[in-house]
Amino acid sequence: MKLETKRLILREPKPSDWKDVLEGCKDIEVTRYLGTAPHPYREKDARGFIKHCLKKWKEKNQTSFPFFIELKSEKKVIGVIEILNYSKQHKICETGSWISKDYWRKGYITEAKLAVNEFAFNKLKVRKMETGAYEKNTASNATQKAMGYKYEGTKLKHHIPKSTGKIHDKHFYGLFKEDWKRNLPKLKKKLNDKINRLK
Ligand SMILES: CC(C)(COP(=O)(O)OP(=O)(O)OC[C@H]1O[C@@H](n2cnc3c(N)ncnc32)[C@H](O)[C@@H]1OP(=O)(O)O)[C@@H](O)C(=O)NCCC(=O)NCCS
Repeated sequence: MKLETKRLILREPKPSDWKDVLEGCKDIEVTRYLGTAPHPYREKDARGFIKHCLKKWKEKNQTSFPFFIELKSEKKVIGVIEILNYSKQHKICETGSWISKDYWRKGYITEAKLAVNEFAFNKLKVRKMETGAYEKNTASNATQKAMGYKYEGTKLKHHIPKSTGKIHDKHFYGLFKEDWKRNLPKLKKKLNDKINRLK
């Protein structure tokens, strides 16, 4: 499975991606708001994560689709965006993601999410996508809002990420297909303008 955008290839992982995963996830600023990544993050964690993701791609009734985000210009994995908890019955799924710090604020997660959401709405035929972000995670909360997700509520003291052991409140967001379709031309234009500005 492969999705392609202007600057990115979203694909299944390869065992050789471990160095790029390690480079991204050894940074506590990347993992402090993620649920399962440990800190310090080591080679065995990166290799284990890839193995775990490869397994998900092989499942018969797949509910998780971890796309590795390869930057075409550098042939390098700069992050991961995962569709998870996909339910055929409820026509719903969630997403989670990270980008290596050197690549933040260049529109990469926006670009990846545009492709992944299109895949979820059009190929998996979901009617709603959900996501969450720790209350303190400014970047992630900003990303959800910029993508048109609507705030649905907060669970208090909901999560303890492995990396820090700190307790976090978590905001929850949802995006319905009809809102997504309505916003899509605007989102695409905004991203294209950003890419042109960054050139
Ligand atoms: C959250 C994260 C994936 C965003 O990735 P990114 O590629 O830098 O995001 P983009 O450049 O596509 O920006 C998306 C939007 O969020 C905004 N944004 C991103 N980082 C921000 C920050 N630190 N502060 C405020 N706004 C921010 C951007 O301005 C943009 O909004 P705009 O389109 O209105 O300009 C990245 O910061 C990250 O990997 N963080 C650590 C891991 C993490 O927290 N993952 C999410 C767990 S819920």
